[in-house]
Parts: sequence; structure tokens; C-alpha cells
Amino acid sequence: MIIAVDGPAASGKGTIARALSRHFGLPHLDTGLLYRAVAQRVMAEGLDPTREADVVAVCDFEDRLLEDPALRTDEAGKLASVVSAHPLVRAALLQRQRRFAQQPGGAVLDGRDIGTVIAPDAEVKLFVKATPMIRAQRRHSELRAHGSKVSLDKVLGDIRARDDRDARRTEAPMRQAADAALLDTSFLSIDAAVQRAIGLAEARI
Ligand code: C5P
Repeated sequence: MIIAVDGPAASGKGTIARALSRHFGLPHLDTGLLYRAVAQRVMAEGLDPTREADVVAVCDFEDRLLEDPALRTDEAGKLASVVSAHPLVRAALLQRQRRFAQQPGGAVLDGRDIGTVIAPDAEVKLFVKATPMIRAQRRHSELRAHGSKVSLDKVLGDIRARDDRDARRTEAPMRQAADAALLDTSFLSIDAAVQRAIGLAEARI
């Protein structure tokens, strides 16, 4: 069984994907980390993120790089959204994601194009969303809790810019697959959102 969880930043898709992985006993891949790892290598090697061929050259990295906590910063997320718009970068990361999805027993993957491109035949597809303001508030309180002084306006602006870039790119844009169930977490607690996701998944298997 393949479970595809897509949606924008801070929608709750990561938390939901991890909970589904535990509930169904399936391995989980956060595919955003792959693009973040590429972004980090671009930064570390001082490459120009707009030069597609240069970015493609750093797409072949070892799995252990995915465990680096530095991948989780907003800076890496922002740059990930720039490098992920290059078609050849997406192509370079495609087989890795498909192999993970197709392992015996199944898997849970979360990202932007899992239900549409990586695993179009997934048994369960969820598209998780929340309003931009609510996502900005979630991200803002997380950042504040870690000592950041960033304003809510700045966080909201960054979220809108990233949504725009991810939804407007020509290659594998972020969108809800025609056969995906929509889960709006705007007014749901984490627990309620997870319960709803488990219910939607169970109804589809
Ligand atoms: O989900 P996360 O915020 O970690 O993703 C970082 C960036 O990676 C996204 O903004 C998006 O540009 C890109 N991404 C993607 N396709 C995926 C997962 C992430 O393009 N399947």
C-alpha cells in the first residue's frame, strides 16, 4: 500500500505522514528533505541555484545527508523551492522516490507531487491544506519558540512566495490529484487532523 500526502508548507502534512506511517507500520520518506539536501549542497559549494546543470551535479548524495538538522531551516526550505523548479533536478531525484514508494509492503511519502507524479497509482492520496495566515501563525510560533524575532508578516510573505513558486512551476507543480481526498487542517488540532487522516486512509483501503 502506498500513501501519498501532498500539500504546502506548514499545512500539517509532515506530522500527518509520520502518524500514518506509525499507524500502518509503513516506512516514511519526507521528500522535501531531498530538495533541501540539494539546496544545502548548493549553499555549501557556493553554486548559483539558477544554473540548472550545476545543481543537477549535486543531486547524487548519500542518504545519511538527510539526517542533518540544518536541512530544516527556513533558509534551506526557501532555496529548496528554487532548485526544485528545475526539471532536470526533479528528474534526478525521481527514481530514488519511486524506489522508496515501491518497496515491498508499501510506504508513506509526503511532498508536493507524490499523488500526481511520483506515485500516481497510490492507493491512498491526501492533499492537506490550511489557509496561508494559519500556516504562517503556526510557523511563526515555532520560530519564536526557538528564539527568532521574525515578524508574522515576514513569515506570511515567505509562505506566499513559496506557495506561488511551487504551484506555478511548469514541472510537477504542487496541486491536488483528481483522486486525492482534501483535508483542511485550518481549524483542527493536530490530534483531530491525524484522526481525520487515518479515517480517510482506512476508508480507501
Ligand atoms: O516540504 P518542504 O517544505 O520540506 O519542501 C521544501 C521545498 O521542496 C518545497 O517548497 C518544494 O519547492 C520542494 N519540494 C518539491 N516536491 C516535493 C517536496 C518538496 O518540489 N515532493
